[in-house]
Amino acid sequence: MWLFRHSQCTSKVRLVGKTVVITGANTGIGKETARDLYRRGARVILACRDIQKANDALEDLKKNPPSRADRKQFQGNPGELVIYRLDLSSLKSVKECAKNLLTNESAIHLLINNAGVMMCPQETTEDGFELQLQTNYIGHFLLTLLLLPKMQSSLPVCRIVNVSSRIHIFGAIHDDLNLKESYTPLKAYMQSKLANILFAKELARRLKEANISGINVYSLHPGAITTELGRHFSETVFPGANTVLRAILRPILKNPEEGAQTTLHCAVDEKAANETGLYYQECGVATPHWRARNDQIAKDLWDVTCRLLHLKSDEDLATFLKTISRQIAE
Ligand SMILES: NC(=O)c1ccc[n+]([C@@H]2O[C@H](COP(=O)([O-])OP(=O)(O)OC[C@H]3O[C@@H](n4cnc5c(N)ncnc54)[C@H](OP(=O)(O)O)[C@@H]3O)[C@@H](O)[C@H]2O)c1
Repeated sequence: MWLFRHSQCTSKVRLVGKTVVITGANTGIGKETARDLYRRGARVILACRDIQKANDALEDLKKNPPSRADRKQFQGNPGELVIYRLDLSSLKSVKECAKNLLTNESAIHLLINNAGVMMCPQETTEDGFELQLQTNYIGHFLLTLLLLPKMQSSLPVCRIVNVSSRIHIFGAIHDDLNLKESYTPLKAYMQSKLANILFAKELARRLKEANISGINVYSLHPGAITTELGRHFSETVFPGANTVLRAILRPILKNPEEGAQTTLHCAVDEKAANETGLYYQECGVATPHWRARNDQIAKDLWDVTCRLLHLKSDEDLATFLKTISRQIAE
């Protein structure tokens, strides 16, 4: 059963000369993804909201290799580790981070949209969006579009990886995306994770339609993992819920290194290089819920998101990317 499987990314590829951006890389599976890719020789950018936490993570990543450091892919020199500030709950911060990346980095080959929050109390961001929607989905949507032109010039092969969740199967995209009248912490999380998959699917379709080749898009469920993701459970489920649930579920939970394997598979696996727009779990292609496969829902969500971000979505993708790049440069 998938719940108890702990598949491994089997690729031995080295990433010397490749630049990777990972959001939320200071802890959890983002940090373990960074540890692996750094040891494969990549320049790994930790895009984090808390610079102190990011610095602590950087020190740990430098000192400690992945648990099975004897593997071939970790044998050469490690790459580089760099920190950029990124708070996905602020569009201003997303634009600033993108601008800094576009200015300072000569290439971006891999973008891993990993950061996330789960089941927090209802909160509206400075941009007027529900917090989980913006952090998990809208912030990543904007970041991705802003970085795409740089990725286009970093070919031959680039990948965008959206970390979603199996829990999307219970989610829906609601007319009231911000759930102003009907917020529950779980409903908002499930919607945002469904949006991660629909975004990957629709972006892959639009890239194909615009004849932009060499940028593949993936979404995935990483498994159930012991990370800090449940940090809000005690506020929104019941007092002490995070500790109690961890203790009960521990036997079936993955550790963060195991939890990073499907992200790594999507990011580096050689066979996955021929795939785009698909959803993965346990290091293989999987079938998401019908809503996550629905073309119309994916297109509608793209259009609504563009409207919310005041972007004109009816242009073809190439023109659209030029327009938003111009906007950010202003
Ligand atoms: N753990 C699981 O069982 C599980 C299952 C399915 C899917 N996932 C998905 O896996 C991804 C990683 O989660 P995780 O389990 O590793 O959780 P985690 O340990 O809580 O890590 C989440 C990361 O996201 C960052 N983050 C949160 N809000 C942010 C913001 N506004 N701007 C920038 N970064 C922000 C956090 O930074 P701070 O440390 O500063 O808060 C942290 O680095 C998430 O997308 C989650 O939905 C996890």
